[in-house]
Amino acid sequence: MTRQDVHYEFDHHTTEFAENPWRIYRELRETCPVAHSTAYEDGFWVLTSYSDVRRCTVDTETFSSDGGDLLIPSENPGRLLPVQADPPMATAYRRLINPLFTVSAVRAMEPAIRRHVDDTIDEFIERGTADLVTDLALPVPGLVTMNLVGWPERDWPEVVEPIRAFSTHRVGEPERAAAGQRLAALRGRVSEDIRRRRQAPGDDLVTRLLAATVDGRPLDEDEIVDITMMVLFGGVDTTVAAIGNMALYLDSDRDLRARLSAHPELVPAAVDELLRYEAPVQGFARFVRADTEIGGERIRRGEKVLLAWASANRDPEAFPDPDTVRLDRSPNPHLSFGIGPHRCIGATLAKAELAIVLRRLLERMPDYTVDRARVRPTVSCGTTFARATVPVRFTPGSRLRAKGGDQE
Ligand code: HEM
Repeated sequence: MTRQDVHYEFDHHTTEFAENPWRIYRELRETCPVAHSTAYEDGFWVLTSYSDVRRCTVDTETFSSDGGDLLIPSENPGRLLPVQADPPMATAYRRLINPLFTVSAVRAMEPAIRRHVDDTIDEFIERGTADLVTDLALPVPGLVTMNLVGWPERDWPEVVEPIRAFSTHRVGEPERAAAGQRLAALRGRVSEDIRRRRQAPGDDLVTRLLAATVDGRPLDEDEIVDITMMVLFGGVDTTVAAIGNMALYLDSDRDLRARLSAHPELVPAAVDELLRYEAPVQGFARFVRADTEIGGERIRRGEKVLLAWASANRDPEAFPDPDTVRLDRSPNPHLSFGIGPHRCIGATLAKAELAIVLRRLLERMPDYTVDRARVRPTVSCGTTFARATVPVRFTPGSRLRAKGGDQE
């Protein structure tokens, strides 16, 4: 077929897409699973079937991450490592941060995560109303991320606000440009940290990276900034999106909510399945390194391909009854964390965090009801599928800790 035959004006930054990306993905999977869009740049390919998306994500020889940022359109908010490199360098960078994300490291973080969730809920539990995005979903991953990099917990808004503004607005919008400037300032803060930590090592990520080597040499300053920014970026907007989406879904599926309240041991399976159902990261791009063929279409060297993990997760060829949330999918090979050499290194942490949030939500606000008329998607869901606001009402409860005091 010619490129015109598979032309589809796919634009993942429109309001229509943000309201219901699943309908557009279904149409693409059914009519044109390897589609070509001219909505941005010199055009790009969109892959939507599970088998194509999986195969190309794993094939890092042909589909490279090392060619610029992985967004469409490209915007260069600063390089992130290891995600913008290919093996073997990507693997070498990844090894340096792996100790932060092992099962035992995550287990050791769990008491702090519980404290963050409880303290955050304490701030609004007596009120009987909240916005689960602003009041819960933003602070918790922010605080956890501060612990990961060893920064003061009170600094979380400095990190969360620009990342969130960047990924939820469209290219060209003033909010996005302003967020880009604040992200540049954040990179500056990491550079300052590097200078400070060279003199006075601490117990933080920058100190660890200053002592690390790749290829038998120390990391240079840019590499340290790029890795630190990745750790800051990775856990924030994704987990924020997942918390808002999950809280909203459980408002609509009261049977599942009752089951989870009665059987909290089912929460991890629910977290996994809800991540499949509404993938927070819709997809990232790759750069084609050599002419190739996918589903009968010729893709040329130098072109860009969007790997739509969110669509793969709804492919009936891979998941029977894909538009239904079911806890009996075992295994659940969804692609919400990607797959292959770049598979999300923070997946165990994210799942632990989400399970703690859901359990506490069900325990402390068991009758929460979402004001659905006021729920809005973010301005753009092209990168992260998220709600801008999830307003709720519930029977007011009591704080677990007195203001500024110890646990009761
Ligand atoms: C629900 C939450 C999360 C989702 C949906 C998610 C999703 C993803 C996806 C799809 C990728 C693959 C990117 C690619 O192949 O191009 C990725 C990579 C990554 N994620 Fe996550 N992520 C989440 C939470 C986290 C957390 C909590 C962290 C901790 C900082 C994190 C850190 C990273 C890092 C460092 C990478 C790059 C790994 C590499 O390139 O080897 N993520 N994530």
